[in-house]
Amino acid sequence: MTTPPAKPPAIAAAYDAWSAQYDHDRNPTRDLDAQVLPRVLGELRPRATLETGCGTGKNTAFLASISQSVLAVDFSSGMLAKAAQRGLPPQVRFAQCDLLQRWPADNSSIDLVSCSLVLEHLKDLSPYFEEAARVLAPGGHLWVCELHPYRQYAGSQARFAGASGDTVKVDAFTHHLSDFTAAAGRAGLHLRRLDEWCHPDESAALPRLISFLFQR
Ligand SMILES: C[S@@+](CC[C@H](N)C(=O)[O-])C[C@H]1O[C@@H](n2cnc3c(N)ncnc32)[C@H](O)[C@@H]1O
Repeated sequence: MTTPPAKPPAIAAAYDAWSAQYDHDRNPTRDLDAQVLPRVLGELRPRATLETGCGTGKNTAFLASISQSVLAVDFSSGMLAKAAQRGLPPQVRFAQCDLLQRWPADNSSIDLVSCSLVLEHLKDLSPYFEEAARVLAPGGHLWVCELHPYRQYAGSQARFAGASGDTVKVDAFTHHLSDFTAAAGRAGLHLRRLDEWCHPDESAALPRLISFLFQR
């Protein structure tokens, strides 16, 4: 008799469990995202930035360096606790928030919404893009960087080694490239830039990341 596979933990609980080692694991996807974010957003000077799914705050210091204020949100208390330990500058605030609920920002109050490696965990992209469009000021930007769909088609998804050495896969959903552009378009956001990124050590492989810069 075969034992059915264990039900994957809920996503927030999985990230709580991953938080202690997230910054230390070998993770070329995480590292490549950290490299490409400043290359695309480095010229922007937002007053108010909302970082959605900030995790352990890997990108928060960079966002603070270009922004007058950063509100960094995530639904994993474990990831937020790690981010708070980074000693980030005073213009950074953290808040716990499920991105599938209403975000803690007023209408048209944000100049930059940033999102790195989060949307694979949302089954339906529409609520995310609708909230981004609601909080963005006219002319404001939305950065989205995700594991490239090609990688998802080949079976990649967020995963880490659990306490007993087993591989824990975090619930993830495949989104085609057009799913992102269609959800953004329905929300009234315009695509300004699309890039595909290969890790320098993997130049012959499939692109690892895809990023979009949308504008309201
Ligand atoms: C792979 S980590 C990326 C963290 C960070 N952006 C980075 O690039 O290192 C994904 C993050 O998204 C968060 N997340 C996933 N789904 C979420 C949701 N519905 N609401 C809030 N946060 C969510 C997780 O808790 C986790 O911290």
